[in-house]
Amino acid sequence: MLLGVNIDHIAVLREARKINDPDPLDAVSLVKRAGADQITIHLREDRRHINDMDALRIIENAQLPINLECAIDSEIIDTVIEMNPHRITLVPEKREEVTTEGGLDLITNFQTIDDISKRLKKENIELSVFIDPNMFQIKMAKSLNADWIELHTGLYSNIYAMLFSNLKNTNHSIKELDFPRDILHKKLDDALKELSKSSKLADELGIKVAAGHGLNYQNVKAITSIPEIIELNIGQSIIARSVFTGFECAVKEMIELCKN
Ligand code: PXP
Repeated sequence: MLLGVNIDHIAVLREARKINDPDPLDAVSLVKRAGADQITIHLREDRRHINDMDALRIIENAQLPINLECAIDSEIIDTVIEMNPHRITLVPEKREEVTTEGGLDLITNFQTIDDISKRLKKENIELSVFIDPNMFQIKMAKSLNADWIELHTGLYSNIYAMLFSNLKNTNHSIKELDFPRDILHKKLDDALKELSKSSKLADELGIKVAAGHGLNYQNVKAITSIPEIIELNIGQSIIARSVFTGFECAVKEMIELCKN
């Protein structure tokens, strides 16, 4: 299984103070040293975390393949093609959302994505589309010549959190989460089956399968048991854990400096 580490949240932390620290570029060598396979970053239209300069510096200094996520907006597409990353993952984007909600609809956006696909082929940039696990979307991905699909695991992750972590609030618009536990168990099972079925179909069609969103140290295991999923892109949970695994060391270093 390949692991792409999404480092957007390092820039989120920097933007909270609007200074230079922490720099997401500093994460690239650590991700490589830890043994992961790819860096994932999302250049949002509102540049709320990763900005153009981050993306350029990360791509230019890449010691790993860079998977650049972006919306299908024409201006941002021009910008990211110019940056020449290894892969571009097309995602839906709404300004008011906290994070990417739901997959991209390849049916209603077919013509726009088809034009983007042709441009990426010319530039030798891999195309991935972030979609919900749905048969029609996967067939569309094939028609669009996508090299990869990335399956949205948000529904699975949210149901898992409701069942096992008492998640009360969710960004995902799933009203079902108020259901009793036995129904939630069934829904979790169904969500996994959909991910598995979709992965199989994509694999049969010759499309490489990635997955991501909301995956963490508790819920990732079941996803790794789907053999056709060959890559995971994970951000929030890794950055969240690193705050605590690195915290003690950071405090100790400051204590040393404070000694007189
Ligand atoms: N994959 C895609 C396409 C995403 O948009 C995101 C979130 O930016 C992720 C993976 C990572 O999700 P998380 O931060 O929940 O692990």
